[in-house]
This record gives sequence, C-alpha cells and structure tokens, in this order.
Amino acid sequence: MRLTIDGTAADYREGETVLDVMRSIGSYVPTLCQDDRISPRGSCRICLVEVDGTTAAACTTPASDGMVVRRDNPHVRLAARGALELIVSELPPRALDVPADRSELVRACDHFGITTTSFTGEAHRRGLDHSHPYVKLDRDLCIACGRCVAMCSEVQGTFALELVGRGFDTVVSPGAGEPWVDSPCVGCGGCVDSCPTGALSEPELLDPRPLTGTVTTTCGYCGVGCTLDVHLRGGEVAVITPTRSAPVNRGHACIKGRFAHTFTRADDRLTTPLIRRDGQLQETSWDDALGFVADQLTAIRAQHGPDAIGMISSARATNEENYLAQKFVRTVIGTNTIDNCSRLCHAPSAAGLTASFGLAGGTNCLDDLDRTDCVLLAGANPTEAHPVVGARIKQLVLGGAGLIVIDPRETELAALADVHLRLRPGTNVAAFNGLARLLLDHGHIATDFLTERAAGLDELTAVLHDYAPERVSEITGLTTADLTQAAELYGQATNPAIVYGLGVTEHAHGTDGVRTLANLAILRGTVGTPGCCGILPLRGQNNVQGASDMGALPDLLPGYQPITDPRVRERFARVWGSPVPERPGLRIPQMFDAAVAGELRALYVIGEDIAQSDPCTSHVEHALRCCDLVVCHDLFLSRTAELADVVLPAANFLEKDGTFVNFDRRVQRVRPALDPPGAAKTDFDILRHLAHALGNDLGCAGPATAMDECAALTPTFGGISHARLDHEGPLHWPCPDTDRPGQPVLHLDGFATPDGRAHLAACPYLPPGEQADAEFPFLLVTGRRLVHYNTGSMTRRTPDTELLPAETLDVHPADAALLGLTDTAPVEVTSRWGSVTMPTRTTREVSQGQVFAAFHFATTPTNALTSPHTDSATGCPEYKVTAVALRPG
Ligand code: FES
Repeated sequence: MRLTIDGTAADYREGETVLDVMRSIGSYVPTLCQDDRISPRGSCRICLVEVDGTTAAACTTPASDGMVVRRDNPHVRLAARGALELIVSELPPRALDVPADRSELVRACDHFGITTTSFTGEAHRRGLDHSHPYVKLDRDLCIACGRCVAMCSEVQGTFALELVGRGFDTVVSPGAGEPWVDSPCVGCGGCVDSCPTGALSEPELLDPRPLTGTVTTTCGYCGVGCTLDVHLRGGEVAVITPTRSAPVNRGHACIKGRFAHTFTRADDRLTTPLIRRDGQLQETSWDDALGFVADQLTAIRAQHGPDAIGMISSARATNEENYLAQKFVRTVIGTNTIDNCSRLCHAPSAAGLTASFGLAGGTNCLDDLDRTDCVLLAGANPTEAHPVVGARIKQLVLGGAGLIVIDPRETELAALADVHLRLRPGTNVAAFNGLARLLLDHGHIATDFLTERAAGLDELTAVLHDYAPERVSEITGLTTADLTQAAELYGQATNPAIVYGLGVTEHAHGTDGVRTLANLAILRGTVGTPGCCGILPLRGQNNVQGASDMGALPDLLPGYQPITDPRVRERFARVWGSPVPERPGLRIPQMFDAAVAGELRALYVIGEDIAQSDPCTSHVEHALRCCDLVVCHDLFLSRTAELADVVLPAANFLEKDGTFVNFDRRVQRVRPALDPPGAAKTDFDILRHLAHALGNDLGCAGPATAMDECAALTPTFGGISHARLDHEGPLHWPCPDTDRPGQPVLHLDGFATPDGRAHLAACPYLPPGEQADAEFPFLLVTGRRLVHYNTGSMTRRTPDTELLPAETLDVHPADAALLGLTDTAPVEVTSRWGSVTMPTRTTREVSQGQVFAAFHFATTPTNALTSPHTDSATGCPEYKVTAVALRPG
C-alpha cells in the first residue's frame, strides 16, 4: 500500500495514519496533542497537511492507497502556524524558554519560526503545584491538550486527572482539585513524559543545563523488566524515562523505575571495602579485604571441607554475575551450596511448572494477555508490586475482559473484578481444587487436549471427589455462588489467562498451589496451544528468573541441568577445567540451620539483606553469628552487612554490563550508565578478583564472554549472546540456536516432560503451618507496597519516603475498634517468633481477623514475625500465613 508525500512515494501498513507514514520517512511534523500511546485527540491542529486537495490533521487521517499528501501548501501551513500562535498567545513568555529537547511546543515554534506571537491578550496566572516529590505542575504552561489525562486513563488506568474549567481557563487538575500529592496519582510519570510544554515536569527537568547522553538499559526493580532510557547530565543520572519502543513496557513505567534513582549517589553508599577489626567494621583496601577473605575461606575449607562454605547469590545481580557466582562456588570452593532468593519466592513455580509442563518458566509472554477475554489473577497485587503489568490488566478489564481475583485482600484489581474470591490465607489448594471440580462437573474442559496431550486426569478426578463446593466453602470461607461464578467465567472464556504471584507460592504447600493452579490451565487446554494465554508467574525481583536460570541453585547447573547427571557434570567440567561436585548443596533455610548446627562455617552473601528479608530473622541473625566468616556485597550497610566480617562495596544495575531475565523469560540487556562510586566494583569483578586471590582464574574476561560460555554449556541459552541482543533486542528462552528466534510461547511442539504430556496434579488440601488460635488470633499476610521495594534499601534513599515514610499494620476497622486502635496509633504485633511495634492503618482492604504489613523498613522488621515453616517440596518460606496477636503498643 502506497501514497505520495510531496511527490515522493511512501509505503504504509494497515492502520497507520498520515502522520505515521510521514514520520516513517523521516519527515518532521509538529504535533502537540498526539502521542502514540493514547487515542488520537486531533484537537491542536498544528499537524495540518493537504490531503487529496483538502486540509486535514495528519495525526487523525488514516493513510489510504494512492493518497496524495502535501506539506508545502502555503495556506495549510499558515493555518497550522495560526493554530500554534493562538496556543502560544495564552502562555507566558517563559513557555518558549524551556529547552527544545524537553518541549514539543518549543520545537514546533522553531519549525514555524514563532518567537513572539502576533496575538496579544491575557496570559495565564494560575500558579504552581509542586506538592508531589516527582510530578511538578506549572498550570500556566498547560495548553489543555489532554495528553496527561489520557495517559492517566488509557495507559495507567488510574483516572487521577481531568481537565477542569472552560475555554481560556481550562487546565489539568487532579480530579478533586486537591494538591497533587494528595490525589490518587501513583507517580508512573506518564503525564510528565507526554506533556508537550513542560507544564508537567519533574525536578531534574527544571534544571536548565543540557542533558549529555542517554543509555538504554533494563530496570533493576521488579521482574517486569521495563526498558528504560537513562538520561545523563555530567556523569550523573538526570532523568529516567520509559523507552517508547520497549517490548515489555511500551513506553510506560512505575514510580520506582521512573523516578526512584537517587539512591545511586546517596551519602551513605558504600565506596570502600570494610573489614571487622576489634569488633568494628573499618575501611580497608581491596587487596587487604580480598586477601583476608581468601585466607579465611582456604582455612575453613582445609579444616571443615568445602561443604562448610555456602553462598547466597543475588536476584538483583546480572545473569553473568550469577553464572560466575555458581562457577566460583563449584570450581574454586568445591561445593554445590549456592542458592538464590527464588528459594524465598518462586522456587515453587520452578518446581511446579517443571512438574506440570517440563520447564521452569511461565508458559506465555505478557503480550499474549492482549488477546485474553478473562484473567484469573491469583495471589498477586500487580498494581502495587508489578505496576506496569497491573496497569495492563486494568486496561484489559476496562476493555471488557473478565477478571477473577483470588486473594485474601481487597486489592485495587479485586475491586474491579467480576468475582473476588476472598479466601482464608493458606487455603489456595482447596480453592483451586474446587474450581477444577466445577470445571469438570460443568463440562468446561478441553476433552481432546486432555486425551491427546495431558496425563493424570483419573487421579485428579478421584481427588476432586472430596472438593464439592460446599466442602471448599467450609475450608476457604468462600461462598459456593462465588466459586461457581468464577468457574463459569474461567470455564466459558474463549481464551483465559492465569497470572499469579507470591500469594500462591509463599506457603507451606506452595508447590501444590502452583500445580493445582496449573491444573485449571490444563483442563481448559490453554497451555501449549496456538493462540492460548497460558499461565504466567509474576517474578518478584528484577532477575530472580535469571539467577535460577544461571544455576545459582544447589541442585541444578545453568539451564536447570541436574547436578546429579554425570554427563552434565562432565560437560561442565571439561569447559571449566575443574571437576563439578556431585552432591547437591544446601538450600537457603538449610544453610541457616547448618550454621546454627556448626556445620556451615562461612556464608558469602551477594546483594541480599537476608537479616531483613528472610523469615524469622532472629534465626537468621543467630545463624550469621554462628559463622566463622560472613562476607557480603552490598550498596549500603544493610542489617546483614552490620553482622558481616567483610563488606565489599558493590555496583548497582545502573553501573553494570550484562543481562537480566524478566518474568516472561525475556533475556534483556543491561548497560552501564554510570561508573560505580569510589572503589565500589561490580559483583562480576569482585568474584574474579577473589578467585585470583584464591589462586584461580574463572576465565570469563567480561560479561559478554561469560554469557558466551554459559550459552555453549546451556541448551536453553545456546543462541543468546550480547551481540545478538544488541542487534535484535530481547530474546525469550529457550533460544537454542543463533539462527532461530526465542520462544515467547512454550510447549507448542509438545511438553518438555519425559512423556511429552502436561501433567495434572492430584494434590489434596493440607492446612498451613500456622492457624489462628486463642493466643494468636489474627493471621498476618505480608507483601509489597507501591512506592517501596523489597527491603527498601534503594527506595528509602529516594523521595519515595515523602510518599510513604513508614510501615504500617493494616487492620480491619472492626478489629481496630475492638482493640482500641486508631489510625497511626502504635500496635505491638507478636507471633511465636518475634515481636514488632508499628503504626496502625485501619482499612477494609484486609478482612476481619487478618492483618497485613510489608517489610520495606529496617526499623520495622516485619520478618521478625514470620515463621520458619517452609514449602515441603522446595523450602520456600510461608510468608503469607503467620498467626499473630495484637495489642496497643
Ligand atoms: Fe494533530 Fe494535534 S497533533 S491535531
């Protein structure tokens, strides 16, 4: 299909506008109300062109075959110029002082040669709203184009903004006219990114100094894996914006990735190695620190054997660093005792999905959600923990897709759901079995799929005999009507999707939870079928998928190749030039137990604050104190670092070269925008230098060669290299060959199980590790809050703390009234494992008898409360169910 622009032929694709085609051939067309991410407005009229002899807005005119477009018609140009002059006439002169790279208005004026307006009249005097730490409003620069309002509604789905006033007085405002900081704004920055005039800006953009460069990289917060453009000024991060062409986030971001970057140069950033002398951590040189660690590790290995040393690698670190970490532990130390924090979150996903389908990743990619007509969201609160995915789900629902939410709390998405299964914490398996029973009873199953591609239906049917709706209702607290409605919605959907999170996995029977949830997808035949939407686990940390993919696990080498397979070990040993230990190592909880038992003498922790993030922290701290040597890499003096013997200053994701794997198995490039401060080093360099100090050479000169070595040894990564990622963009694993693309959808050619079938699981419901009782009558559920992340080590060193300065205990108003608790009043929370006092927040988001808290603040160590109960299959802690007692503090 082809049209002509100023006499030159140009091809176009179905659905493109004249503006799209003009941009595709490199033609600049000034625009003010247009943004690819939102529906066309067509209101500013400065993109006027001549189309087939008439005047038309390029941004709203569909391209058509044979169309003749001219930009050089002087009348049309005059009309566009006039439209722009009218807009400028209402603005104060400083509107044209904004640097051109930050103002589409200034670029448009430059294009038309407008420096002063021929119109005179009253300019706005509407004032500023600088109440929000990140989003700054200069009302006088607002041209009422509506882009910010559309970004907030059509992309973010928060509907916080509207245009108020009439005619000349029209201006953007948070809905109720309150100060911006008090509005429902979630700080995604979409309005700032889209504003064409600088009316909506951010503090760094108010700095008139020019930006000096941009580096495109992958976000280091949650597992969504947003692509970000890091704009620099004088060697520092000025602004981070979402990459418009990003395959995952499509020009969208959340408050953390978009704004929370000032931690990189926080005053208390570690810049020098620390070593404990005379009971105090003291600054030292790298040679001294690494020499000490090498000597201690050598002595411990000589005296107690290599299995007395363990390493916790990092879901925050790159793939290449995790690859090197497990290679270090296996070849330099000689043990398989290495694990990563997926043990604490999605180990049940890896185990459950592998048992059901043969591979440890989600079966589909995020893009597949675009075609679903029903999302079943279980145990996940993505609008807070994975905001870009949460916003996408919200848009699906607003567009008509059904939504089933299975969650004890009334999350934002639960409030939008067709049915909210607000079950008792710890009863997932019963609920999932109940839904499976209803799917079978009501004939909502893919009979051919089950016959040809699945196994285990008879065993499942036998177990489901005990899961009639009435019994499921007794266990879960759900009504049979709600269960039936959810089963009908999921069962009758043409293309249902399952998205789930830690509310499924972090249980004493988390692997059973994953498997019984996967049963629903198998019964409907929505996995491994063309056009299906499958089942997607939302991974918690930026590279928790990759850390496990890279073999930072005690029983698996890179690519989930079993350590117990002698042929696998031999292949790695040949390339590594060192034998690979045969005996599986310890998992994280086992490491702590072994340390307390005196069997593990050294613990090496990369980028994890285990003394804050792991459950039952008194046990963790005791384990650390029992070790002869604790080494950690960190950005800051975390609680774990405070207990360490050696603390090595590490780089963060903005200072690293490598790759991350996001939640839908996309391998994405991470590129350094900054140098690490002071003497801080990347985890990659620290491990290489430590190996040298121990007389070994890990062999990988840099991250790219580490990935090459991993690819050569790991079939699922066989076709992946930095060069290819730089050239082609992100690739989904498995990607076995350099001449084949990765696989966004798994199992289309058969399941990777030994018999090639998807396996239904016949798992009975088993009660959680703890139940409420007379002594501890409430159930504590833990999770995340929007503006902070994990232990808060990064977000607490940003203006995010202005939005959420402290942790709270969320309590139902009826419970609060009975206990005499009011908002902000201190409440002492006590479990069998510890006690913490924090402010009360009354909310109906929690049910009566349940309370909620996150663990983002070191001063409110919520994990002092959580129990040591773990998933029997994987050792994943039961973060989601802890019996507690409350009393006014
Ligand atoms: Fe086309 Fe505004 S950009 S009408």
